[in-house]
Amino acid sequence: MLTIALPKGRIAQETLEIFEKTFNEEFKFENRKLILQKGDFKFLLVRNQDVPIYVYHQAADLGVVGLDVLREKDLNLVELLDLGIGKCRVCVGMKNEDSLDLNKPEIKIATKMVNIAKQHFSKKAMAVEVVKLYGSIELAPLVGLCDAIVDIVETGNTMRENGLKVVETIMHSSAHLIANQNSFISKKSEILNLYFKIKEVLENR
Ligand code: PRP
Repeated sequence: MLTIALPKGRIAQETLEIFEKTFNEEFKFENRKLILQKGDFKFLLVRNQDVPIYVYHQAADLGVVGLDVLREKDLNLVELLDLGIGKCRVCVGMKNEDSLDLNKPEIKIATKMVNIAKQHFSKKAMAVEVVKLYGSIELAPLVGLCDAIVDIVETGNTMRENGLKVVETIMHSSAHLIANQNSFISKKSEILNLYFKIKEVLENR
């Protein structure tokens, strides 16, 4: 039995579709249930940012999560496979009329991705104050909470609709299949078996 943590929403849906193609079976969560057990798999529905935590603590053997979340959490996990879904970028955004003032002693950044933001600006030797928010990041520069944001851009609509522009792309992201390090040893054949089957389905898409 393999336990797999999925991030609630579209990625969980698309991952289950990949499993359906791979095993020719239906994998569907019943209305409000958070656990789906079928055949050799037990799927868990968790919050996006919590997926690496479930896997790190071995509450799940495997997980599906964006590379952005993996980099932000920076836990020791096995990165098995890029599923090629949930593609997005992590970007620095500012109001259309603004630009990054490199002479400013300190730039104020609002983000839910504090570590990625800090690392990015420290590499550029820019002093930043990072304000952690939990959502609606695009609002922060509009009301003077920050000079710039670090946030996910998928279609770019949210930034555009709010009069913001991308000034830098920090990283590209997509959903990855990850494994707990101990599970990867104790359930190696099961995990590799799944890995090769999914890989084949993805290659033939
Ligand atoms: C993300 C991100 C942006 C939006 C970008 O939020 O924080 O607000 O998506 O998408 P777009 O470029 O297609 O407009 P998400 O919907 O994941 O919600 P969250 O803030 O609750 O994480």
